[in-house]
Formats: sequence, structure tokens, C-alpha cells
Amino acid sequence: MKLLENKVALITGASRGIGKAIAISYASQGCNIAFTDVRRDENMEQCEKELLAFGVKAIGYASNAASFEESAQLVEAVAQEFGRIDILVNNAGITRDNLLMRMQEKDWDLVMNINLKSVFNLTHACQKIMLKQKSGSIINMSSVVGVSGNAGQSNYSASKAGIIGFTKSIAQELGSRNIRSNAVAPGFIITDMTAQLPEEVRKDWEKKIPLRRGGLPEEVAKVCVFLGSDLSSYVSGQVINVCGAMNC
Ligand code: NAI
Repeated sequence: MKLLENKVALITGASRGIGKAIAISYASQGCNIAFTDVRRDENMEQCEKELLAFGVKAIGYASNAASFEESAQLVEAVAQEFGRIDILVNNAGITRDNLLMRMQEKDWDLVMNINLKSVFNLTHACQKIMLKQKSGSIINMSSVVGVSGNAGQSNYSASKAGIIGFTKSIAQELGSRNIRSNAVAPGFIITDMTAQLPEEVRKDWEKKIPLRRGGLPEEVAKVCVFLGSDLSSYVSGQVINVCGAMNC
């Protein structure tokens, strides 16, 4: 028996990067996958193809996680198509790094809306379904910098810290209905997002990591398999760092 056999997961921002790795790991464990990204492009189609190869149901949806209305419509469409939602992975996120002195209001708002408000939007829409089912696992993608802060990332760090407060509150609010809520806090993970950083910044990060390397998206995905499955049936309200002992 696979760990997620016949479950249904909704994963945001999953056409590439960590979200895609989670979708692939879930599909390999028998999970049916609804995933989103901002647009239907070749990445989404490729991801859909790779997921279908596991013999599960998989559909990519173009949906802006920062929009309350679009998120509500998405969840309704997924529930209708898949019949239930067992796991919600709020993964979509962006960076707009700058020192506070140079940070523009639009970069603060964009990061807050895409990283933090999206978590509210999707969880708000999914809770009705999970309450009816009397089960659910919500996994929110935070970051180690949401715990420790990071110069040049005040908007991003604040959004990721906000996710932790939200995660713990929802764990307390919905726990009595058998709905769990946890956050994952990755460290430096090698994806398109971190590829944008200058070479010397990446080298510097790697030197500071006790395991002496950046993590792989698949290594974050393994923790999400644990949190989505019954292996973590008594784990809720937690933040699990996946960071090679960085910032410990
Ligand atoms: P990525 O940039 O490779 O992938 C993010 C995906 O989210 C993209 O496909 C993007 O199009 C999508 N997305 C962006 N805005 C969206 C929106 N409004 N609605 C729906 N989808 C949207 O990034 P990566 O590295 O895979 O990051 C995934 C998550 O992990 C993010 O929340 C990020 O903050 C978090 N994270 C990443 C770390 C890293 O080192 N890569 C470290 C800590 C956390």
C-alpha cells in the first residue's frame, strides 16, 4: 500500500521547483493531484504529463493564489472534479528582495499577497470541504528566514513568519475536526528561484550550511509526503525545518 493511495492533493505553484517535486512525490505514492500555477504553459503541460505517467488523476489549473475569488472558484472546481481534498499544499511564493531603504510599496504588497494572503485564500476555501470530511492535512511552505529573518528580505521574511502564525492558529482552530496544519521551512534549496541569486551569494550560503550544500526540491518533498500521510497523524501546529542545519 502506497502512503497516499487514493488521496487527493491540491498544490499551488507546482508547474516547477519545489511544488512540482511535491506533486511528483505525491503521485508516486498513489495520490491524485490538482495543481496550480499562474498560467497554463509548457511547464504545466509537462508536469501534468509526468504526473499522469504514475497512473493517477492529475490536472493543472491556471489560478492566481493571491486572488480570493479565483482561489474560491478553484477549490470548488477541484472538489467537483476530484470529489474531495485531503491535502492542501500552499507552496506558491515569490521573492522581491531589497534593503528596506530601497524597497517599494508595490514589492511589499506583491510578496504579502502572493506568499501570505494566498495561504489564507486557499485554506479559507478548503476548510469547508475538510470540515465536512472531518479530515485534512494543510501544509504551508514557510522558510528558515521566516524564523530567523534575513537582511534584504524583510518583505519575504515577514510573509514567511506570518505563515507560521497562521499555521499554528489553524492547527488550534481546526484540530478538533481532525484537520492538521503544519509549516515546512526550507533553507537554501536549488530551484529557479535561487538560481536568480548571484554566484557569490549562492557560494556564501553554501559555506554557511553545515551539510555544505544546497538542498534538493525532492528533499523538501519527502517531508511533505510525511506531513500529508498518516505517518504524521499526531503531528500538527509544527514548523519542520529542511535546511541542512542552517540557522540552527
Ligand atoms: P519557483 O519560483 O521555482 O516556483 C514557484 C512557483 O510558484 C512558480 O511556478 C510560480 O509561477 C508559481 N507562482 C508564483 N506566483 C503564483 C501565484 N500568484 N499563484 C500561483 N502560482 C504562483 O520557487 P521554489 O524555489 O520552488 O519555491 C517554492 C516555495 O518554497 C515558495 O513559497 C518559496 O518561497 C519557498 N521556499 C523556497 C526556498 C528555496 O531556496 N528555493 C527556500 C525556502 C522557501
